[in-house]
Amino acid sequence: MAAPVPIAHDVSNLRAHLTSWRRAGEIIVLVPTMGALHAGHMSLVQAGKSHGTKIVMSIFVNPTQFAPTEDLSTYPRSLEADVAKFAEAGGDLVFAPSVEAMYPQGFATTISLAGPATAGLEDKVRPEHFAGVATVVAKLFNQCRPDAAVFGEKDYQQLKVLTTLARDLDFETQVIAAPIARDHDGLALSSRNVYLSAEERLHAPALYRALIKCAEAIKTGQPVEAALEEARIAIAAAGFAIDYVEARHAETLAPLDQVSGEPVRLLAAARIGKTRLIDNLAL
Ligand code: PAF
Repeated sequence: MAAPVPIAHDVSNLRAHLTSWRRAGEIIVLVPTMGALHAGHMSLVQAGKSHGTKIVMSIFVNPTQFAPTEDLSTYPRSLEADVAKFAEAGGDLVFAPSVEAMYPQGFATTISLAGPATAGLEDKVRPEHFAGVATVVAKLFNQCRPDAAVFGEKDYQQLKVLTTLARDLDFETQVIAAPIARDHDGLALSSRNVYLSAEERLHAPALYRALIKCAEAIKTGQPVEAALEEARIAIAAAGFAIDYVEARHAETLAPLDQVSGEPVRLLAAARIGKTRLIDNLAL
């Protein structure tokens, strides 16, 4: 059995651990999460290990990134099991603050974003989402002052928003991107996959399959919009209601009508039953 991992519930406790590590010359990597850990999160921990010597995982279901219509109250919460999984993966410290510790009475600051945060993808469907994500991540960066922080490419727009945030606000934390972890049939791992019924789970990989096909079609010369339209048809035929299926510049997330040598990312979001899935693929 893995050695137990300490849990800090407030910033002073967190900093007590970090200060002594820093004095000892440790390189601290933060893996920010909302818990409900799965193999995808464990791959973030493994990615973190190649960038530092101490891995801190924050586990905090951040209310400010959920719209009132979203699943904040039902979002899966499993702190005890999460800490055990993190210990098993060789993590060093969990930071699990309460909502009151993160947003005390009178909290009044939100980060205002442009650039990739207003690319018309997730922000089109979830207009307040990235301000909540950026604000909590800025807090986590200040609370922890990690040398590096790892984010998954599954939330690709989030990754670009947070890379821009770290650059624009001069955080000393290096933002590291970790590749998408997938199930045996290609479905991107997500804490929300637990919402899928057996029938929906069967159809869910169609989202990824359509992106692969779309990428191949574009690479072999099919016009971008025609390839995207075929992907939309295939995704809808699998039972999804589509939010978007787009080809974007992989760095700026600007729309692309044609590809001519720039890095391209295909991005999709769609609902199957009550579950909203997102996925993306490099061209
Ligand atoms: O990707 C997530 O789990 C969250 O958006 C994050 C980065 C932990 C902020 O709450």
